[in-house]
This record gives sequence, C-alpha cells and structure tokens, in this order.
Amino acid sequence: MSKILAIESSCDETSAAVCVDGKILSNVIANQTIHENYGGVVPELASRVHQQNIVPAVQQALAKAKVNKNDIDAVAFTRGPGLLGSLLVGVPFAKAFALAQNIPLIDINHMQAHVLAHFIAEEQPAFPFLCLTVSGGHTQVVLVKDYFDMEIVGQTLDDAAGEAMDKTSKILGLPYPGGPLIDKYARLGNPDAYKFPEPQIPGLDFSFSGLKTSILYFIRDNVAANPNFIRENINDICASVEKRIATILLNKLAKAAEIYGIKDIALAGGVSANTGLRQGLLSLGEKNGWRCFIPKLEYCTDNAAMIAIAGYHKFLNGDFVGQDVVPLARMSV
Ligand code: KG4
Ligand code: ZN
Repeated sequence: MSKILAIESSCDETSAAVCVDGKILSNVIANQTIHENYGGVVPELASRVHQQNIVPAVQQALAKAKVNKNDIDAVAFTRGPGLLGSLLVGVPFAKAFALAQNIPLIDINHMQAHVLAHFIAEEQPAFPFLCLTVSGGHTQVVLVKDYFDMEIVGQTLDDAAGEAMDKTSKILGLPYPGGPLIDKYARLGNPDAYKFPEPQIPGLDFSFSGLKTSILYFIRDNVAANPNFIRENINDICASVEKRIATILLNKLAKAAEIYGIKDIALAGGVSANTGLRQGLLSLGEKNGWRCFIPKLEYCTDNAAMIAIAGYHKFLNGDFVGQDVVPLARMSV
C-alpha cells in the first residue's frame, strides 16, 4: 500500500494531489488570476498567492481523497525547474509536512512529471517512446527510455511554444495566459487565412522568435491600414497562428519519429491542451501508423497529479531525498 501526497508550485498554479497505489484520488488546482493584466506571470505575486493557497489546496486534496494526513506514506514535490519564489513555497511545505509526519520526501523534476502524466491513464505508452513536451517555458522532443531515463533530442533555441502563444495574444491585446483564448478564437476561424513563416532550423531543434516578430510586424502593418483589423479578423488570425505553431511542432516530431523508428508518440505540457495541436497529432498519427497519447485536459497544464504519479514510481524504487534538499530553478530532464 502506498499513499502519496504531491505538491506542485513551480509557476502560477498551486496544486495538491493524493495518489493511492498509483491511482489518482484527488487533484486540486488553485489557479492564479492576478497575472491576467500583466501579460505574464509576475514572480513575486505568484509566490505570495502560493502562500495563501497551499494549505487549503492540501486540505482539499486530502478531504477529496478521503485520506487522513496521518496515513500519508510519502510527500512528492516539484523541485524544479520553475520560478524560484514559487518553488520556495511548495518545497519547504513538503519538507515540513514530511518532517512533522516522519515520512520520506520524493523530489520530482517538473518536466519529467509532464511526460509521466501519461502513466495516470489506463492506456499507457511503451518504452521507448517520444514525447513532445510543450509548455510556457519549454519545448522539447524527449526520447523516453524509462520512467526516469529521458533524453532531450530536440528543443527550442529561444522562445517556448507556449510563450509564442502568450506573446501573440499580448500583441492582440488579450489577457494572460493567451493560449486558451487563441484556441477558443481559432475554432471559429480559417487556419489558411494568413501564412506565417516556418523557421528553417536544422535537426530536431525549434525556434519561435522569428515567428513572433513576423506576427508582430503583420499586425502592426495591418492595424496601420485598418485600425479595426484585429477585432474584425481575430478568429482567422488565431487560427492561422495556431496552425503554424502546430505544424512547426508536428513536423519536427515526425522527423524524430522517423530518425528513432518509434511509433508510440505522446504530447505533454500546457500547450498539449491546444485543440489544433491535438487534432494535428491524431491525423499525423493515422497517416504514419502511430499510437498517439494525449493527456486529459486537467493533466496537460500544471497539476500535482503528474507529480504524484512520478512520485509513486520513485516510491516503488525507494528513491528518496533528505531534508537538506533545495529547490532548483533550472533543472534538466
Ligand atoms: O505546462 P504549463 O501549464 O506551465 C508551464 O510549465 O509553463 O503551460 C502553460 C502554457 C501557457 O503558455 C499557456 O498559454 C499554454 O500552456 N496553454 C495553451 C492552451 N492551454 C494552455 N496553449 C494553447 N492552447 C491551449 N488550449
Ligand atoms: Zn508545466
């Protein structure tokens, strides 16, 4: 029997989850709306809101799972990568909980956890598989050889895919985070209305900064000619931007699948919630005979359930850390 409490506080979601014998019984996510008007996460504000949210989130996660805190066997927590001020709320909380209950601590790499979210579902990918992990801070093609044996075979040289979504939405005057709004407007638009360039980056790496600049100039020039351009064409703009971001990602993923001869292909991270990207992967998978794995929406964006499932697999290995563990703002898979 194992009952694991998991804590996630790497960015702007405070989340707590309870996992019993590898099954997620609760996954409480407190979103922060305070950043909406700033065009991005303000680290100091995120840290303060984590402090307000963490105790209620843990209490709710335990109550929802109907698990008493005295029955928890281990605490898993996000050690990094993330915003230091945010990690500095979740990490000491996890340490204090483990110390008070005299139970082991399990440190989890947030990017590995996004990948391991695929082991929450009944149907799971087989090792080795490829995972395109796309979030607000990262864009990685990961060769997943085992639960904790992952190799980044391609990554962004500048902006992350989520950042490209968020910066586009900022240019369009939409609130942060823009990804979900671009998704919403894109559903109503024509993805072929406007053509944005595909960067020619060799190998499996990505670049999004050139695309961002071309979107910026495109909007600037069109607004100069017609001040209502954005309002009149928001659906087509979002659909076209979304299509270009998705094709950049999927073309590299297809290349990686060919190079490594792998047919189990997964998506992970916040941007994997994107409808166009999800649909794009499924049709590419059909064409190439892949088995495609796409997380449920609640496991795409930051959540503690993915920390809990990663923690469960470390728990099985007896892979614990001491009370001297510190957060790592930069941490590779
Ligand atoms: O994984 P995540 O929750 O946090 C990080 O670890 O960064 O990813 C957040 C990112 C943001 O850039 C957000 O705009 C994007 O995921 N995102 C989406 C959608 N939902 C979240 N992007 C496109 N379409 C969505 N539906
Ligand atoms: Zn994340």
